[in-house]
Amino acid sequence: MSINVRKVGIIGTGHVGSHCAFSMVLQGACDEIVMVDIDKEKAISQAADCMDTGTFLPHRVTVKAGEISDLKDVDMVVISVGELLKENRLGELKLSVSIVKEIIPELMKTGFNGFILVITNPVDIVTYAVQKLSGLPSNRVIGTGTGLDSSRLRKILSDLTDIAPHSIEAYMIGEHGDSQFAAFSSTTFGGKLLTQLMKEKPQVYGKLKFEEISQRAALAGWEVYKGKNSTEFGIACTLTRLVNAIYHDEKKIFPCSALLNGEYGYKGIYAGVPAVIGKNGIEYIVEIPFDKDEKVKLDRTMGIIGEYVASTGL
Ligand code: LAC
Repeated sequence: MSINVRKVGIIGTGHVGSHCAFSMVLQGACDEIVMVDIDKEKAISQAADCMDTGTFLPHRVTVKAGEISDLKDVDMVVISVGELLKENRLGELKLSVSIVKEIIPELMKTGFNGFILVITNPVDIVTYAVQKLSGLPSNRVIGTGTGLDSSRLRKILSDLTDIAPHSIEAYMIGEHGDSQFAAFSSTTFGGKLLTQLMKEKPQVYGKLKFEEISQRAALAGWEVYKGKNSTEFGIACTLTRLVNAIYHDEKKIFPCSALLNGEYGYKGIYAGVPAVIGKNGIEYIVEIPFDKDEKVKLDRTMGIIGEYVASTGL
C-alpha cells in the first residue's frame, strides 16, 4: 500500500504559471508538479529554477517539465496560458479560447479525469469554455474568478480601518474584470455587519466611500500591471488557496468563478461568487443577499459575461 502522491499539472509556464508553481512549492501544496509550455525550453528552466529551492524549504516538491500527455494521472491541471494585453481582460478572449480549444481536447484524450483550475483571462468565459470542451462536471472546473479581487478588497478595507484582512469577510462579485462590484451590504468585520459598525463607530468606519473602494478593488490588477507588465504573486496564492481547499477537503467558503445553475436567477454562465470548496471541488454556491443597488450591478455584470459566453459559440 502506498500513499497517493499529490500531482498538479500547469499548462502555461509564463509569469503566472511559474509563480503558481513557486507558490505551491513554498507552501508544500502538492508533491509533484508537471510544467507544460509550448516553449519547452521555458518549461524546463522554470522547473529547474523551482527545484533550486530544494534544500531551503521544509517540503519536498518535485517539479519537472513535460507534455500534455504526461498529465493523464495528475489530480489537477492549472490553465495559465495566453498573453497579457494592455486593455480590458475581455480583449484576451479570442486568443485564449483558441488556445483552450486546442489543449483541452488533447488533455482529455489522455484519459485525464481530475480538476481543472482556470486562471487564463477573461477567466469567467474561459472557464465556461474549458468546462464545455472538457465535458468534466462543472464542480471540477473552477476559475480563480474574483478570489483575487476579494482579497484586494479586504486589503483596501484593512488599510482604511486598521483591522486585519483575515477578520474581514468581503466579496467582489461577478466578472473578474471591470464590471465586478463589492457586496458591501453583506460585508462583515468579525461577524458584525459593516453597515452596523458604520453607525456604531463612525469615527473609524463612517468615512468609507463604497463606490470608490469597489472601483479600487476592481482596478487593482491594473495598478500592479502598469509597473511590471504582469501580476503574479496574488494570483499564484489565490490558485494555491483553491488547491489546498480541495486537497484538504477544507469546505472553505471562497469566491471563485463557478457555473451558476439557477443561483441568483442565472443559469449556464460562470461568474465570481462565494462557493464551498472541498474534495469535490465546488460543493455548492452560497447565495449571499444583495441590496437593490447591488442587484442592479449583479444584472449588469452577469449580462456582460453572458454576452461574451454567447460569443464563444460553445
Ligand atoms: C489579476 C489578473 C490575474 O487580476 O487578472 O491580477
